[in-house]
Amino acid sequence: MSFWRDLPKPFFVLAPMEAVTDVVFRHVVAKAGVPDLFFTEFTNATGWAHAGDKAIGMRLVKTDDEEPIVAQIWGAVPEDIAKLATHCKTLGFHGIDINMGCPDASAIKAGGGAAMIRTPELAAEVIAAAKTAGLPVSVKTRLGYTSTDEWRSWLTHLLQQDIVNLTIHLRTKNEMSKVPAHFELIPEIVALRDEIAPETLLTINGDIEDRAEGLELAAKYPGIDGIMIGRGVFHNPFCFSNEPTPLPSSQIPLEFPRRSLATGPADESAPTSPEQARAEVGSAPFVVTRAGEATGEPLANEFSRTSAAPSDTDAYSIDVGREAVLENSVGEKVRGEVKAGRFVTHIQLLHYHLDLHDKWDTPEHPRKFDPLKRFFKVYVHSFDGAAELRDTLMHTKNTAEVRAVLMDWSQRT
Ligand SMILES: Cc1cc2nc3c(=O)[nH]c(=O)nc-3n(C[C@H](O)[C@H](O)[C@H](O)COP(=O)(O)O)c2cc1C
Repeated sequence: MSFWRDLPKPFFVLAPMEAVTDVVFRHVVAKAGVPDLFFTEFTNATGWAHAGDKAIGMRLVKTDDEEPIVAQIWGAVPEDIAKLATHCKTLGFHGIDINMGCPDASAIKAGGGAAMIRTPELAAEVIAAAKTAGLPVSVKTRLGYTSTDEWRSWLTHLLQQDIVNLTIHLRTKNEMSKVPAHFELIPEIVALRDEIAPETLLTINGDIEDRAEGLELAAKYPGIDGIMIGRGVFHNPFCFSNEPTPLPSSQIPLEFPRRSLATGPADESAPTSPEQARAEVGSAPFVVTRAGEATGEPLANEFSRTSAAPSDTDAYSIDVGREAVLENSVGEKVRGEVKAGRFVTHIQLLHYHLDLHDKWDTPEHPRKFDPLKRFFKVYVHSFDGAAELRDTLMHTKNTAEVRAVLMDWSQRT
């Protein structure tokens, strides 16, 4: 039985993102809020078939606790696809996804990615080749190549290939990411799926920022099985969490003060607006809730959906006993005591990212420091002094310097 059938409805998927969703960043995202399913960044089958592992670097590195995880591959040579899919099975991946939507010129030139939209027969051969590995095979694609009118014939063809899941980025190849996603087509796409391949799951992708938006979309368009989020993690790394999201300015993790939320009135001295509350940051960190009251369950540990209580040795669960200002799900401000290291903060996520960067910087796969700088704005934004801190971080040369800057900053605030 494919793991796809065991996923909740709607399930939430971390989108494959080249040079982003590697083993390091997937762990960071999981620390903030675990998606139901992970995709790797894509790997070219022909490159691997010719040059072996050195052609793909860390793309297919994963840890055993990343479960379930799908390897995304691409290519226009069915034999290469079959070989790489089999290799992915050996590596322990739970599924294979074939990229048929990448608009990048190099993928198109090689006949892969979105070029597959124009070679539907080859696309069918590639899917059949991937299936020979014995793992569930899914496809991620776009509505068409040049025109949205192409969606019906292209998706019909894909749905006829007996795939386990079809992820649709609701734009054409030519639209890149420049126009809003075509959510208006969802009802017709759902109807098409129901008619042609009711067993194939349907995952919607494009412009969905977080779990709350995904749930809204799924409620509005019944029939959607999954929600895939990509760039939303840059704007909010906690986007998969169903817990309150800490403001970027929070420096300590907070336990939601359930008692005062349930029974106590809002503290009159508490701030009445996020702006006012932000002004207190430093002496009183502040948490905004997005998805309702916390459940009181301990922080989910890494990739596990069965919760595990943070331990004393967990460097990312700290500080109890401090007073904090929080906002509950109906917008009331309350003061409460930090009870346990329930949440990680943006800055702790950055520390975690640094630690994982160092851990995976091995002689076999040396990791360059500079690409890591692209992530600073994920963690350092939207608080007084953020731009200045980010600027200082951009001048660092290694993870030790980043830690020193953060230490200095946290002592000053
Ligand atoms: C930096 C970056 C890298 C991407 N790499 C891949 C990839 O390797 N495979 C893929 O199928 N899509 C890739 N995509 C597309 C995303 O998976 C997703 O379809 C797109 O960003 C739209 O979803 P979003 O609005 O939630 O970001 C990439 C997108 C970005 C921004």
